[in-house]
Amino acid sequence: MTTRVLFVCLGNICRSPSAEGVFGELAAGLDVTTDSAGTSNWHVGEPPFAPMLAAAIARGYDLSDLRSRQFKAEDFSRHDLIIGMDADNLRDMERLRPPGNDTPVVVFTDFVAAHGADHVPDPYYTGDYDGVLELIEEASRGLMRHLGTQGTDQSH
Ligand code: 4NP
Repeated sequence: MTTRVLFVCLGNICRSPSAEGVFGELAAGLDVTTDSAGTSNWHVGEPPFAPMLAAAIARGYDLSDLRSRQFKAEDFSRHDLIIGMDADNLRDMERLRPPGNDTPVVVFTDFVAAHGADHVPDPYYTGDYDGVLELIEEASRGLMRHLGTQGTDQSH
């Protein structure tokens, strides 16, 4: 059964489209779909932020077809696993969770082994577009291991 994974950040122009692109590439050929959204409506309809696009291309990921959209309550029932980039993303999503829905919502760094990152820093503010891609690659490999352990069936 298909595992539908949704990545979520604030603007959906830096971190979550990068996660969608990087993890999507790793998971190509598996029974997995990927999507991304932002908790804000600030950049709806826009492609990823230019410096993010450039840093991604330099690592071999083409994010240019992606467009920002806002996370909505219906996303809870349309995905099997929802992955935020920081605690604010998780809080903003939980406010919209429909009663009775139990779709898992986790932070992407939960899949990073060994060191202490508890969120994916926002390059829109830090300027470190390449560093965030490195962390997203590491978390994506961890997510692959997690899905491999579970099978790709996240439904229950
Ligand atoms: P993202 O980064 O959440 O990783 O897409 C941001 C992009 C834009 C803004 C904030 C964060 N903004 O304030 O416009």
